[in-house]
Amino acid sequence: MPKNKVYIFDTTLRDGEQVPGCKLNTKEKIEIALALEELGVDIIEAGFPISSPGDFKSVSEIGAVIKNAVICGLSRAVQKDIEVAAEALKTAKRPRIHTGIGTSDFHIKSKFNSTREEILERAKQAVKWARNYTNDVEFYAEDAGRTENEYLARVVEAVIAAGATTVNIPDTTGYCLPHQYGEKIAYLINNVPNIDKAVISCHCHNDLGLATANSIAGAMNGARQIECTINGLGERAGNTSLEEVVMVIQQHQTLGFYTDIKTQQLNPLSRLVSDTMRMPVQPNKAIVGANAFSHSSGIHQDGFLKDAQTYEIINPEQVGADGSKIVLTARSGRSALAHRFHKLGFMFNRNDIDVLYDQFLKVADRKKEVEDEDLKVLANQYQAATV
Ligand code: KIV
Ligand code: ZN
Repeated sequence: MPKNKVYIFDTTLRDGEQVPGCKLNTKEKIEIALALEELGVDIIEAGFPISSPGDFKSVSEIGAVIKNAVICGLSRAVQKDIEVAAEALKTAKRPRIHTGIGTSDFHIKSKFNSTREEILERAKQAVKWARNYTNDVEFYAEDAGRTENEYLARVVEAVIAAGATTVNIPDTTGYCLPHQYGEKIAYLINNVPNIDKAVISCHCHNDLGLATANSIAGAMNGARQIECTINGLGERAGNTSLEEVVMVIQQHQTLGFYTDIKTQQLNPLSRLVSDTMRMPVQPNKAIVGANAFSHSSGIHQDGFLKDAQTYEIINPEQVGADGSKIVLTARSGRSALAHRFHKLGFMFNRNDIDVLYDQFLKVADRKKEVEDEDLKVLANQYQAATV
């Protein structure tokens, strides 16, 4: 059966850069944009041009150097925003304007002091303005996650009729459960008559740790674009993590999806983004965390050494990680110890290991992690005592 492509829309340089404490200059943004293109992302959201002269410059300069990926600029549903985004995107070979407005009652009443009908008109108008500059217009219905489905369907139908070619359904507050988000996408697919004229996009936030699950649920129900960031960076608890959705899609072939991401570049790019943005990656982060391929308990180490697949579903090379790591701690067992001695060139038999293991545990109780240098000392002392 032919597989369906899921377009990867990277917003590290826009939503990702909204992380408190992170500021990138244009040179750094260009470096990341070039690496994203090399990674194989389909769309790069380069910034929010009206937000500052610096962001305008970055979007414009990124547009000038990127050859294949679509370059996207964000705007509110405001004429001036759209004009400025279009101006910044003039350099891009494939420009996209991403415009939109809040559609939940929280946004309509509290933020805009407006009505559903008025917001619907503003949404259509924004798309029409944007279409004056490019045929590639994406509309976002901010807080779609908490927008009532019937009204959301009316908005989606109206913006597609006005010329939107992608419609983004953000779970802006990260509130939805995966089945709810999936049902929302299915509702739109089944109830918006002209839905096949646009790509439906998932844009999920991670406030409840559900951004990846929600994005996959969206794709399973008909969305064909996922918006995400490297290392899951973004507002508050972050956005959907690019490396996670890509690897879910690759690991679960039965979903029937593919992406064009070169997965071997995921770890190098994660490090580049972390270093440039000065945002450390949590050690237990899936795919790119320092511990993602580390094994520290005796039971796991024994199983892993017999067959890596007992405790690893991904080969670290597949995602450009340094390799699997056996960490020696007081929870480690004899097989891990023997394996590490072997790697260091010490060929001990079972009896030797029994004696050395007791000494090893004493060191391990003192230290968090037993290093190669500690093992060499143990091995040399043991050999000296047994000659
Ligand atoms: O989370 C969100 O709703 C957004 C939109 C501006 C696309 O980032
Ligand atoms: Zn967002």
